[in-house]
Amino acid sequence: MTQFYGKTKICYGPYALEALETFPADHAFVVTDPFMVKSGFAEQALSHLSRKGIGYSVYSDVETDPSLQAVVETTRHFLESKADMIIALGGGSAIDMAKAVSYFGRKVDTARSVRLVAIPTTSGTGSEVTSIAVVTDKVNGVKIPLNDELLIPDAAILDARFTRTLPPHVTAATGLDVLTHAVEAYTSRQSNMFTDIYAERAIRIVFTYLGRAYGQGDDMVAREHMLLGSCMAGLAFTNSGLGITHSMAHSLGGLFHVPHGLANAVLLPFVIAFNSFDAGVKYREIAEMIGLPASSVEEGTRNLTGAVRDLNASMKIPARVRELKVDEREFRRSLDTMAQNVLEDICTKSNPRSPSRGDIVSLLEGAW
Ligand SMILES: [Fe+2]
Repeated sequence: MTQFYGKTKICYGPYALEALETFPADHAFVVTDPFMVKSGFAEQALSHLSRKGIGYSVYSDVETDPSLQAVVETTRHFLESKADMIIALGGGSAIDMAKAVSYFGRKVDTARSVRLVAIPTTSGTGSEVTSIAVVTDKVNGVKIPLNDELLIPDAAILDARFTRTLPPHVTAATGLDVLTHAVEAYTSRQSNMFTDIYAERAIRIVFTYLGRAYGQGDDMVAREHMLLGSCMAGLAFTNSGLGITHSMAHSLGGLFHVPHGLANAVLLPFVIAFNSFDAGVKYREIAEMIGLPASSVEEGTRNLTGAVRDLNASMKIPARVRELKVDEREFRRSLDTMAQNVLEDICTKSNPRSPSRGDIVSLLEGAW
């Protein structure tokens, strides 16, 4: 049986934030980060709640990579608040925190009915529509990925005004995360016709609009398309799974703190080459859909790899892992550990080609 699951109501377009006034609620628990408060973005969202007479409590201390300890404490505040709506406002970390709070809150208070609304302020994770949230056990230094349909937000509000001030290097890295989600979803072993539709549109959007959003941050047409592309890629990969670009990026991020999107950007061309024997037909389709010559599988794959490298270079993204402030001795010493992490990563099982431990080590050495 093949299936595609999507339950999130998606509100987008200019002034999409006004959708906050359309959800019936008495009290909202708003999960956000200090920057959203300082920049006035949180106030903008709260004003819509006030206008509808909806009360609110604000938790604005979300840190990068929310800890299990913080999730437990915030869930307690949420339960005390008696809120019937949770609003996540921010990047991946704020949305992960809100999803985890909503999940554990509903487990503790099973009689409680609560609506989860996600408002992403970066165009990258697609977390506003996915069933995944990552919390970190900082005491034991372990990342805990949660994956459950209960984690899928009920509504997503895509208002590109929040992404207008993202600096170029963040726009580039998060944009390449979108591309990697879409390419890995499209070539996943678990891809299907529905995930292909969303992945394909997301790929076209990245190649058309990411350069514009990077070069001219206030190009709102480009910003809006990237926000929609991020959401579409999220819809694709939450159903299809990802691949070993993500598995390796998770490992590089965990051991060397390489930002997620940046690691994906550098690794993606190497993974396309590695997977080309098994996924060549699909890489050729991708090359065709973005207008590259692709008269054969080899030509399509080669041109796609070149297009990703060119896109990276145009946004000053390095071509090699050695340019990512990673210590070489430590990197080489960790090759075995990273290979083991990659083999155990949940994304590896949907990669089109099953890698051996030696394959992963070779890939990492090649990407260095
Ligand atoms: Fe990602």
